Amino acid sequence: MKKTQTPPAQLQSEKITVRSIRAQKGGAPIVALTAYSANQAKIIDRHVDIILVGDSLGMTVYGFSSTLPVTLDIMINHGRAVANARHKALVVIDMPFGTYQESKEQAYRNAARVMAETGCDAVKIEGGAVMAETICHLSSRGIPVMAHIGLLPQSVHAHGGYRAQGIEAESANALRKDIQAVESAGAFAVVIEGIVEPLARELTRLADIPTIGIGASPECDGQVLVIDDMLGQFTDFTPRFVKKYADVHGVIDNAARQYSEDIRARKFPEMLHCFGTKPETKKKAG
Ligand code: KIV
Repeated sequence: MKKTQTPPAQLQSEKITVRSIRAQKGGAPIVALTAYSANQAKIIDRHVDIILVGDSLGMTVYGFSSTLPVTLDIMINHGRAVANARHKALVVIDMPFGTYQESKEQAYRNAARVMAETGCDAVKIEGGAVMAETICHLSSRGIPVMAHIGLLPQSVHAHGGYRAQGIEAESANALRKDIQAVESAGAFAVVIEGIVEPLARELTRLADIPTIGIGASPECDGQVLVIDDMLGQFTDFTPRFVKKYADVHGVIDNAARQYSEDIRARKFPEMLHCFGTKPETKKKAG
């Protein structure tokens, strides 16, 4: 008789959509986390609302010193792996540096490629008021856009480093204008990064679209972190806004040490790991 199995939790739940995220404004906190591979996406899918294939992969996966060298092809390859592996979560893919800033037409051409070749749900672009026309062009042509204001890693050179935003009155006012501009342009949500707390809270109240904070405020409608940071896999430095939920660096370090010790001591492989061995041998070795 065939055994009936309960499907995995994520298969029972409803697919999260741009509309459902938009409707979560002011409700249950939206959980977002980056992922760059199919394995990561499979694991986190049941726990999060949004999987962001961030161009942070330039630093975490490729070891670049910034996100600037990331190409559209890199984002499409990782984005496709993630989108294919998820069942439930909304998949948003970062448009990399230089693929959308030149014109709204360039942005549409490249964002359409990302949508068509990966099967993702939306794209994310950095920039506030300056990107409003582009956001409007994309979102009115069927490409949902998550905006990103505040600390913009793709503008690290123009900003003179990774600095908290909104400290001076002028920069705070610019951010108020940015959030209103991206909302009016049709963004369904906005990442607010590295914005001082009282202002991040104020921007969340000001906007009718969900704010997803990173280094912002507990009052944001949602939160996002880079997966390598929250897993404790990246240990060169820990930004103040990161909470570590694991010590994956320690786990890999320990496992790699034990593995190399086993091989050097001829403890691995054992007979049970070899093809063509008899079951008794396998049992004995196990
Ligand atoms: O690239 C990324 O991972 C991001 C998040 C930090 C928001 O943009």
